[in-house]
Amino acid sequence: MSDDLHQTGSLVVDTNSTQDSLSQVTSKYFETYYGSPAEFLVRAPGRVNIIGEHTDYNGGFVFPAAINYYTYVAVSKRHDSIVNVVARDWSGEVDHIDLTKPMHFDEARMWPNYIRGVVEQLQKRNYPLQGCDLVVSGNVPQGAGLSSSAALEVGIAKALTHASGITLTPLELAQIGQDAENQFVNCACGIMDQLISTSGVEGHAVMIDCRNFETQSVPLPPSYEIIIINSSVQRGLVDSEYNQRRAQCETAAAHYGVDLLRQVSVEQLHVQRGDLDDVSFKRAKHVVEENARVLEMVECLRSSEHDKLFQLMHDSHESMRSLFEITVPAIDFLVELVAKTLDGEGGVRMTGGGFGGCVVALVPVNKVAQVKAAVEANYFNETGLKEVIYTARASAGVVVLSTGFSADGVG
Ligand code: GLA
Repeated sequence: MSDDLHQTGSLVVDTNSTQDSLSQVTSKYFETYYGSPAEFLVRAPGRVNIIGEHTDYNGGFVFPAAINYYTYVAVSKRHDSIVNVVARDWSGEVDHIDLTKPMHFDEARMWPNYIRGVVEQLQKRNYPLQGCDLVVSGNVPQGAGLSSSAALEVGIAKALTHASGITLTPLELAQIGQDAENQFVNCACGIMDQLISTSGVEGHAVMIDCRNFETQSVPLPPSYEIIIINSSVQRGLVDSEYNQRRAQCETAAAHYGVDLLRQVSVEQLHVQRGDLDDVSFKRAKHVVEENARVLEMVECLRSSEHDKLFQLMHDSHESMRSLFEITVPAIDFLVELVAKTLDGEGGVRMTGGGFGGCVVALVPVNKVAQVKAAVEANYFNETGLKEVIYTARASAGVVVLSTGFSADGVG
């Protein structure tokens, strides 16, 4: 979940490249580095969560969309057991992985750990992996809570399995990414980021039931744009705060005598509160009510009752602020500013794990310019931070592309 892939060094994320140019740049880089063209490319998306925060690891509902910001992996097979990885965005740093040796955590650089963790998970499942030469590059903003790490895990899992002639389901690929993060990177993230990166649907957000992993795609209304605003707040201590929230939810679930907070109803939450401490109660209340909001959101979109979006997203944000306590003042300011401009239309809330990162807004097309102008005019003055605004499209999940760039689909 910590999408801060590196502690030191210089990161260059190519957010300006169009997708086509980034896939070409990655292929070209591959050819220059290895001396022959890549056999295929993998493209794995980042995500934005429309609503349903910190519900996934409680077995609840989430409603993310994959976005048109991607990690690309250019791939050629080798005839030995070595995986070479070049990270174009990290000044061309290289990792050499020997598939016959156990994986070790890299203490100095974070990015190789996402790859080693995925290799370890594939091997734990006894998939016979082929050596490969890889180049990785992407334009998912890093450290912004848009799941650049999940896109990397999914992209690598897809690249290695496709090269080795192994076909996995979107859920299996996602679980490999999640387990890599839980067991190798040591962040207790849920399944949402990896599963939407494998299961995204163009033009749709996807409701995921994180208890049985069923997905339902719901079209997003074309009269709204997805605007993502990066607060540029440095996300410190994210993993430790995240793991602590997860532990608090487990404490609350144990109090209610269930495995997952998903199993607690709103009524039960209050009636059986007993001696549950304040903090655990607040965490549980957020999760139980947020699950209900996801279902309501899906219903509103399906029945085109768009006037309810504003309140649902507002309530979700307020709950993250006061009950789950994962927002920061700059983010609260941004949400309030955008909400004021939206004036009851569309909706806005913080998205992702929290403690900085991004705000997501569903903005009526005719208000996009106004929202951008309001943020540009006020955010820096208030916070001293410079926002970055992205217009995102709901996109497909991971795909294999030929180096001629036509999608072969997930196979
Ligand atoms: C991070 C995690 C997800 C999810 C969100 C919060 O993105 O990786 O699993 O828990 O935070 O909704």
